[in-house]
Amino acid sequence: MDVTRDIDPDLLDKVINLAKRRGFVFQSAEIYGGFRSTYDYGPLGVNLLRNVKNAWWRAMVQTRHDIVGLDAAIMGPPAVWAASGHLETFTDPLVDCLVCKERWREDKIDGVCPNCGSTKFTAPRAFNLMFKTQAGPVEGEGSTAYLRPETAQGIFTNFANVLSTTRRKPPFGIAQVGKSFRNEITPQNFVFRTREFEQMEMEYFVAPAEAEEWYRYWIKTRLQWYVDLGIPAEMLQLHEHAKQDLSHYSKGTTDIEFLFPWGFDELEGIANRGDYDLTQHATHSGVALDYFDQSTNERYTPYVIEPAAGATRAMMAFLLAAYHEDEVEGETRTVLHLDWRLAPYQIAVLPLSKKPELEGVSTEVLSSLQPNFTCDYDVTQSIGKRYRRQDEVGTPYCVTIDFETLNDRAVTVRDRDTTTQVRVPIADLTHHFWHLTSG
Ligand code: GAP
Repeated sequence: MDVTRDIDPDLLDKVINLAKRRGFVFQSAEIYGGFRSTYDYGPLGVNLLRNVKNAWWRAMVQTRHDIVGLDAAIMGPPAVWAASGHLETFTDPLVDCLVCKERWREDKIDGVCPNCGSTKFTAPRAFNLMFKTQAGPVEGEGSTAYLRPETAQGIFTNFANVLSTTRRKPPFGIAQVGKSFRNEITPQNFVFRTREFEQMEMEYFVAPAEAEEWYRYWIKTRLQWYVDLGIPAEMLQLHEHAKQDLSHYSKGTTDIEFLFPWGFDELEGIANRGDYDLTQHATHSGVALDYFDQSTNERYTPYVIEPAAGATRAMMAFLLAAYHEDEVEGETRTVLHLDWRLAPYQIAVLPLSKKPELEGVSTEVLSSLQPNFTCDYDVTQSIGKRYRRQDEVGTPYCVTIDFETLNDRAVTVRDRDTTTQVRVPIADLTHHFWHLTSG
C-alpha cells in the first residue's frame, strides 16, 4: 500500500460522497432540507464510530490498571461553568461582514469575507460557545442549564467521588466518552467541526513534580494509538502551542495533527492543566478536592494531564487515511484499508448463488461467526460486484460459499488488501479469523 501518495484534491468530496452513498453519515433532518452542519450516523457509520470509541476505551481503560471510567451528565448548572471559566472565557471572536451581513469567526477568515470578498467587518465581539437551556417548567435564573462543551468538567466535579469509591492514588486517570456541544460560529468540513460531536477525554491526576514527565508520556502514547490503528505516521505531526496561544487553564498544550485534505489540522490536544480545575471547583463549591499522601504526610492538589480527542473527528481521519483507489484485474476499485478493529463489518458472508441449496449452509456459517465478529450477509449481484462493495466499505474478509461447499464443507476466504483467496474448512473458520487478527 502506498501511504506516501500525494493527497488527491478530490479526496474530501470522494469520502463525503462514499459516506453518504454507503450509509456512514447522513445530513441530519435531510427530509426537511437538512439541519446545517449536523449529521446522523447510518448503519455503517454507527459501527465505525462505535469501534473508534471502543478502541480508545480498550487502550485507555480496559488494558490499564491506573484509569477508570465515568459517564457524567450532559446538562449542568451554571455553577460548574462559572468555576471552570467557560462562562467567562469560552468565546470565539465574532465579526459581521458589513457588505453581505454574514457572520464569521474572525480568526478563521484572514480578513476577507469568504462569502462576498469584502474586507469590511464590525469590530470583533466575544461570542460564548455554550448552548444555554432551561431545566424544568419554570423559566428564570434558577433553572438555567448548559449543555457541556467538553466532557472534562464532569470528571473534575466527580474527582472526590471517584477517589473515595475506588481508593485510587495519583498517578491515576478518569476517562469519559460522550457528546459535547458548542455553538460554533463557522462549523465546517463535514464532521470535522460540528455543533454536536463526541469526545474521548481522560484526566490523569499526578503529583505536581511528575506533571511534565506524564505530559510527555501521554503525547507519545496518544500519537502511537493512531499509528497502531493504521494512520500512516507521516500523516501525523505534533504541534506544541506557543505560551501566548495557551487556553486559560493550560500550562502547556501539544496538538496531534492529522494531514486533512486542507492541510495539517488538530485531531487531539494533550494539555498540562496544572491544578487549575481542581482548585477552581474546590474554591467555588467549598468541597476539598485534593489528595493526602500517607507515605509522605503531604496534602496536595494534583496536576492534571489531559489527552482530549474527538471521536467523530478521529472517525473522519480514519476514513480519510483508509481511502484508496487501486487497480484489481484491470479495473479501478475503491477500497478502505481500515484496521480490522475499526471496520464496520469484519467479515462478509457471500453465498455464490441465491439458489436455496446454499441458503442453509450460508446461514450456518453466518451464525457461527456472528458471536465473535461483526458480519454482513449479501446475496445480491455478481460475486465480483459484491467483493467491490465490501472493499469500498473496508470489510477485511469475505467468505464465499459455493456449490463445492456442499461436498467439502469448506469456504473461500478472500483478503481485502491482497485480494488473495484461500480455502478453509467451515469447522476451522472461527480459529482461522482469530489467528489472522491476533497480534
Ligand atoms: N477538554 C479539553 C477540550 O475540550 P478541545 O481541544 O477544545 O479540548 C478536544 O477539544 C477535541 O475535541 C479536539 O481536538 C477535537 O478532536 C474535538 N472537537 C472539539 N471541538 C469540536 C467540534 N466543534 N466538532 C468536532 N470535534 C471537536
